[in-house]
Amino acid sequence: VSILNIKTDGNHDFIGEFTTSYRELSRGQSQFNVYEVVNPKKKGKKKKYTNSGTVTLLSFLVETEVSFLDYIKGGTQINFTVAIDFTASNGNPAQPTSLHYMNPYQLNAYGMALKAVGEIVQDYDSDKMFPALGFGAKLPPDGRISHEFALNGNPQNPYCDGIEGVMEAYYRSLKSVQLYGPTNFAPVINHVARYASSVKDGSQYFVLLIVTDGVISDMAQTKESIVNASKLPMSIIIVGVGPAEFDAMVELDGDDVRVSSRGKYAERDIVQFVPFRDYIDRSGNHILSMARLAKDVLAEIPEQFLSYMRAHGIKPSPAPPPYTPPTHVLQTQI
Ligand SMILES: *[C@@H]1O[C@H](CO)[C@@H](O)[C@H](O)[C@H]1NC(C)=O
Ligand SMILES: *[C@@H]1O[C@H](CO)[C@@H](O)[C@H](O)[C@H]1NC(C)=O
Repeated sequence: VSILNIKTDGNHDFIGEFTTSYRELSRGQSQFNVYEVVNPKKKGKKKKYTNSGTVTLLSFLVETEVSFLDYIKGGTQINFTVAIDFTASNGNPAQPTSLHYMNPYQLNAYGMALKAVGEIVQDYDSDKMFPALGFGAKLPPDGRISHEFALNGNPQNPYCDGIEGVMEAYYRSLKSVQLYGPTNFAPVINHVARYASSVKDGSQYFVLLIVTDGVISDMAQTKESIVNASKLPMSIIIVGVGPAEFDAMVELDGDDVRVSSRGKYAERDIVQFVPFRDYIDRSGNHILSMARLAKDVLAEIPEQFLSYMRAHGIKPSPAPPPYTPPTHVLQTQI
């Protein structure tokens, strides 16, 4: 171990050195962990020189790197909530140009994105039951505008069975609601944040999947909601459909500049933005482009997840022991 006098100009002075080992250090604070710092050059020259000071170990800690999978094996559950943009900027569902075009023979842009991304994320979801919300529509019977309605029409139990269930609920909603506006993200982010703030012990991690055309109306509130949510066990994946400019979505992604609101920065990066059009394959190699989509959609989740666990000092629970068959062997009669 070399001891240096660190200087801001980079010309650090060498003070001296000492040797130790993992075994010695692991004894922790004790009389064995006090070291003389010796400068060999001085030792040779000056007769009276013994050392340049001592170093005392105050504490010793071994940290093992843990992975996303260690937490999943230890029982942390991932809760994926889907939120779909039902605003008028997506175009009239009766028109083929609409991203929500209702065509009985072919999936529309939302259907394609939901199916592709949903099939990827459902492998990570603990029970494959997805709460699914819509935002920005007028709801029957009274034409009230909602920014967080249950796609299955049941706010007490918004769960849909697998991504197939989400698709069904999506197409059913499309027939009953009226696309409207404005395009507010903050209500769905806060919706999931309410649940996330009630389970901060690492036993659950929430991922909100927003599928949108990217034409956002409440940028300031959304940034504030993201800054607030960055303290919670949650991440947001935004999938942009359609041909719009996605500058605002890229800004929310915060890979280049961390999202901030009124001078407060997000504690962690929690948003991942993916423009779906980049994965629609024109050369016909659907499998390859879906693999790339899967990779990019989930790229940042493990690191975002780990950053929460690290920041809150949460360790993975030990994985339950592998199943061992009962020891008493059944008598087989021959
Ligand atoms: C998952 O999150 C949604 C909110 O987005 C909530 O309705 C649901 O109860 C959560 N599930 C669990 C098991 O906590
Ligand atoms: C963010 O959190 C603050 C403090 O808890 C709260 O007052 C504010 O309403 C939250 N912002 C949003 C957009 O939810």
